[in-house]
Amino acid sequence: MIDAFARDIHYLRVSVTDRCNLRCVYCMPEEGIPLVDHRQVLRFEEFERLIAIAASQGIRRVRITGGEPLVRKGIVPFVSRVKAMAGIEDVALTTNGILLPSFAGDLQAAGLDRVNISLDTLRPERFRDVTRVGRIDDVWAGVEAALAAGLHPVKLNVVVMGGVNDDELADFARLTLQWPVHVRFIELMPIGEGDPRFRGQFVSIEQMKTKMAQEGLRLVHHPGIRGGGPARYHTLEGALGTVGFISAMSKHFCGACNRLRLTAEGKLRPCLHSRQEIDLRAPLRRGAPDHLLARIFQRAVEAKPYQHSMLDEGWGDRSRRMSQIGG
Ligand code: GTP
Ligand code: 5AD
Ligand code: SF4
Repeated sequence: MIDAFARDIHYLRVSVTDRCNLRCVYCMPEEGIPLVDHRQVLRFEEFERLIAIAASQGIRRVRITGGEPLVRKGIVPFVSRVKAMAGIEDVALTTNGILLPSFAGDLQAAGLDRVNISLDTLRPERFRDVTRVGRIDDVWAGVEAALAAGLHPVKLNVVVMGGVNDDELADFARLTLQWPVHVRFIELMPIGEGDPRFRGQFVSIEQMKTKMAQEGLRLVHHPGIRGGGPARYHTLEGALGTVGFISAMSKHFCGACNRLRLTAEGKLRPCLHSRQEIDLRAPLRRGAPDHLLARIFQRAVEAKPYQHSMLDEGWGDRSRRMSQIGG
């Protein structure tokens, strides 16, 4: 599918649930957020029909997200059915890693190609503070399980927050000297909790690079790691992995945007940051034929903005949480 700005849209991010077993401070309040009623969430068969239609229109890569996708029952057979679809070349998953120790082997056997794991700190107590409920040992066991299962490349997503974990950039980078993992530092986006205090916590990619240089780390450009996302990669001499940067707040990568998002409720989001959503669930449940649903995918592609307007729309948009969009 080609959009109005000649971008090839071939990557679909599918949020299969808004539920999550963590409560990351930048994502949700401690008590969690009101959950979508089960009947409003698409069944796996419904997702599969939509993904197959998307594939017939040119989607080749699928990323499964949440909330936390591994908390949804039936995720492993779902992965295998998506992987078996005509036209789908790459199936990846973004997870907080807590449940990966028990799932990694089965996911790989089901045909999952690779995983991205959220891990914002390497310090156990800090991990508890950031996620409010998680144990870092579980996530690290998940990272090792993913590596052992061959879900390569294994990427670690680190949302950088000033005064919280910005003193760990060098520790994360040095992790790549010992482990074949791809650490990606992500700029904090004012989505979800959107708490005004995040203003003070924002650390730009430039600031991260300066900090790392001051600590004596020499990063050299790396041509890139398998994937379809916005990260730009570097590496340390002799490293087994890489260090990537995702400048989520600047508009650098909008020009190369390749994606659509499908929420757990069956809505297509043309852009992570636009408020526009196009409903697929109602026509799907009313029995619309494939060609009409395909037309809705095309409409969503046509509705993609040239670039996001997050900064213009201001901080603190609470209308949608990251756990509902899938990142
Ligand atoms: P691959 O490169 O295919 O591995 O995936 P990815 O990096 O796109 O996926 P992942 O789910 O790991 O997302 C990493 C971070 O990038 C998250 O914080 C996402 O919210 C952010 N991100 C992904 N896509 C976009 C996008 O289109 N715009 C912005 N601003 N951020 C994005
Ligand atoms: N800003 C940047 N990244 C975020 N993520 C969740 N919320 C935010 C935010 N406000 C990240 C998660 C996960 C990915 C899907 O999105 O840490 O790695
Ligand atoms: Fe869950 Fe991801 Fe939100 Fe953390 S950022 S609470 S892991 S959905």
